[in-house]
Amino acid sequence: MLVHAIATNATYEFASDVRAGLSRPGQKELPSKYFYDDVGSALFEVISRLPEYGLTRADERLLRRHGSDIVDRVPGPVAVAELGSGSGRKTRWLLEALSRRQRTFYYPVEISHSALIMCERELRDIDSVSIVGFEREYLDGLLEVAACRKRGQHLFVLFLGSTIGNFDRLAGIKFLANVRKVLVPGDSLLLGTDLEKPPLQMLRAYDDELGVTAAFNLNLLSRINRELDADFDLAQFSHQATINSAARSVEMHLRSKRRQAVTIPASEVVVELQEGETIWTESSHKYSANEIFQMASDSGFHCEAQWIDQQWPFAENLLIAD
Ligand code: AVI
Repeated sequence: MLVHAIATNATYEFASDVRAGLSRPGQKELPSKYFYDDVGSALFEVISRLPEYGLTRADERLLRRHGSDIVDRVPGPVAVAELGSGSGRKTRWLLEALSRRQRTFYYPVEISHSALIMCERELRDIDSVSIVGFEREYLDGLLEVAACRKRGQHLFVLFLGSTIGNFDRLAGIKFLANVRKVLVPGDSLLLGTDLEKPPLQMLRAYDDELGVTAAFNLNLLSRINRELDADFDLAQFSHQATINSAARSVEMHLRSKRRQAVTIPASEVVVELQEGETIWTESSHKYSANEIFQMASDSGFHCEAQWIDQQWPFAENLLIAD
C-alpha cells in the first residue's frame, strides 16, 4: 500500500490542544481524537469484540448482509474514501461487492499510522482493489482523495462505526456539510449511526466488566506522559461513564481521586485538580432512526435508504449529495 504520511507538527498541536483543554475555566476536557495512538487503537480493537459493546458487530452485520444492496444503490463508477478506516475489517464486505462490479480504488483516511497498516493487511487480498492510504485528519484527507478523482468517477465516502456520534449534534451536521462541500451531486456517503437504547445497555457498553474501556480512557493520560513528558499518576484517576439525557449521549470522564497537581512540560502548564473533579474525554451521541433524514437534508444530502440491525439498534444510512 502506498501511504501518504503526515508532514507534521503533530506533537506541537497535541501539546497546545492539551494545554487549552486542561486550562479552560469550568469543565476540563481532552479531545477524543487523541485516544488513537498505537496503544489506543489496539485497545479500541479489543473494545469492538467485547460482549457489552455491540456497536461494531452490528455495523459489520449490516454491511455483511446488505453490502451488495448498498453498493447497487450507489451511483457509479466510484472511488471509495473511508474516513477513519480503523482496521478495515468491516469494509471488506463493501469492497468485495464493489470489486465484482468494477476495478476499485480504496482510500482509507486515518490519523493513526498503525490503524492504516492494519487496514492494508486486512484488505490487501481482495482482487481488483488498490489501496492508497492517507495519514491525515478526515477533511484534509478527503480533499486529497477528491483531487485524485478521475473524469466521470463518483466518490463513495464511508463514515462508519458511528464516529459521527463523537461530535456534538450541531458539530456533526456541520461536519457532514463540510464533507458535502468536497463532493458533487450524485456522490454518496454511507453513514453508520448508533441508535438510542435502554440506559443500562448504553452505560455498560462504555464501562465493561474487564476494564478495557477504562484502560482505553486512561491511556490518554499515559499518552500525554509519553509524548509530552507529563507526570500523571494513573493510579490517582478512575474511569467514569455517565448518561447525559439532555444531550442523548454517553459521556466518558477521568475522575481525579484526590487533590493533585500535574506538570505537562511540553504544554508549558501545571494543572491543578480537585478531589472528584473530572476531565471530560468523550461523548458518544445516540440517534433516532428518523432524525438521520433531517440531518441529511440539513447538510445538503438526502437519505436514500436505511438499514437497521435487529439485535443491536444501529443504522446504516446511504446519503446522496443533492
Ligand atoms: C469511535 N467511537 C464511535 C467509539 C464510540 O462508541 O463512541 C469510541 C469508543 N469510546 C469508548 N468505547 C468506544
